[in-house]
Parts: sequence; C-alpha cells; structure tokens
Amino acid sequence: MHAQPVSPEPDRSGSPSQEVSVRVFLKQATTEAHDALDRKTSKVFKRGEDPEVAKQSYSNLMVAHYGIVCAIEDAVHRSDAGRALFVDSPLSLQEMEKTHLLVEDLISLGLSVEDIHAIKKPEVPTPQSTAYAAGILYVLEGSSIGGPVVAAMVQRATGLPPENFRFLKAYGDFPDARERFNNTFAPALEALVPDDAARQEAVRGANETFAAFSSWFEKAGVIPGNDAETK
Ligand code: HEM
Repeated sequence: MHAQPVSPEPDRSGSPSQEVSVRVFLKQATTEAHDALDRKTSKVFKRGEDPEVAKQSYSNLMVAHYGIVCAIEDAVHRSDAGRALFVDSPLSLQEMEKTHLLVEDLISLGLSVEDIHAIKKPEVPTPQSTAYAAGILYVLEGSSIGGPVVAAMVQRATGLPPENFRFLKAYGDFPDARERFNNTFAPALEALVPDDAARQEAVRGANETFAAFSSWFEKAGVIPGNDAETK
C-alpha cells in the first residue's frame, strides 16, 4: 500500500538541502501525493448536486477520516518514536489530537456513539524514528491548512451550518490555519528533522501516510480509484 517516496525537487543551487526549510522540503517531496488526493476529493462534491446526497458523501468522508486519524494518532501515541516528538518540544500532544473533533462532527451528522465505535480502522504507518513520525504528523497537521478549503466546498454542496466542520476547521479558516501551521508546527520540524538522513526519513513517513490516506479513502469508496479517474 505504500507509495514510493517522491524525490524532492533537485537543488539546482548546489547548496545543501538544509538551506531549504524542512517544511518546504516535505512540501516539495509530497506535492504529487497531495495533489492526487486533493483532485480526487474535490470531485466528490459536485455543483448542483442534491444536498442530501452531498451530506451522505460528507458523512462517508468523515467516517473514513475517523478510521484513519484515530489509527494514526494511536500509532503515534503508542510508539516511543511518536512520543519523542513531544519531549522537549513546543508541540503539544493534546492540542494536536483531532479524533475528538471527528467524533463531534459524526454525532452532528446523526451517528450514534455505537456507530462510531464500530467504524473500521486501517493499517497505518508505524513511527520508526522521530523523523519518520514527524513526517506522519506533517500530513495530519497540514491537512488542517487545506481543511477549511474542503469545508467551504462541502458547505456549499450540503448547506450544513459552520459548526458541522469541527475537524476540517480544527485550526480555523484558511489564512489563520496556515498561520498557525507556519508559526508552530513548521518551526518545530527543524529540531525534529536535523540532517539529510532525517529528512529522507521524514519524507518516507509523509509519503507513506499520504498513501495510507489514499488507499483507505479508495477502499471506503469515498474517492474514485486511479482507474475511475482516467475514465
Ligand atoms: C479536497 C481536498 C483537499 C484540498 C482542496 C486541499 C487543499 C489544500 C490547500 C489549499 C493547502 C494550502 C497550500 C498552501 O498554502 O500553500 C493544503 C495544504 C496541505 N494539505 Fe491539503 N487539501 C486537500 C486534502 C488534503 C488531505 C486529505 C490531506 C492529508 C491527508 C492534505 C494534506 C495537506 C498538507 C500536508 C498540506 C501542507 C502543505 C504545506 O506544507 O504547505 N490535504 N491543502
């Protein structure tokens, strides 16, 4: 299920990769994986669609998110490499947890606590080193930058009120969410991913996490597979 890591843009300046921030390095190395997920998810919510159908699609998307976000948070919290992210670091495990936001959204969408407990969870990448774990968290944290963009799309299609998008707007609306990421998570990445070898590990963690999202969403039927995309 794991995609081959996408190599970052070659450094044409001849300077060491550390001259690019870890965040930019990760962004470049995962652009292909991100854009594929973005493109497929955007296709789910079509203009002029029946709001009830769109609401069901949103519910399915949040159910799929719950399964994978819960599994990833568990894997990070249970592993030494994952817990190491929060030792002597400005990052807060509690502040970054997002499973509870998904629970609130799913309850608003009409699921019961029993329904939520019954949601299946996929196999997810296991943190193998602190840098790899940082790559995993980069994907989860970064998804809150694009989340408000997705929320706006879903809101238009479903007519649901803003309070139904707690997960997608975990860090508020678009510019604020990006500011928060830029000011807290992005700088913390520098200490967690200190050298070239660690950067490669972080890229592997991020790309394997993107691959896990993509294959889980496909398996759950919330996004089209690659075959459907080419039709
Ligand atoms: C329809 C679906 C999606 C849309 C429209 C979308 C859109 C966006 C946008 C607009 C940004 C900000 C880019 C920037 O400021 O330069 C972003 C960033 C990001 N998104 Fe998405 N996104 C989507 C789905 C996802 C998913 C499902 C994930 C992860 C599971 C994800 C992970 C990320 C990450 C890691 C970043 C940070 C990139 C950086 O380093 O700046 N996105 N997204």
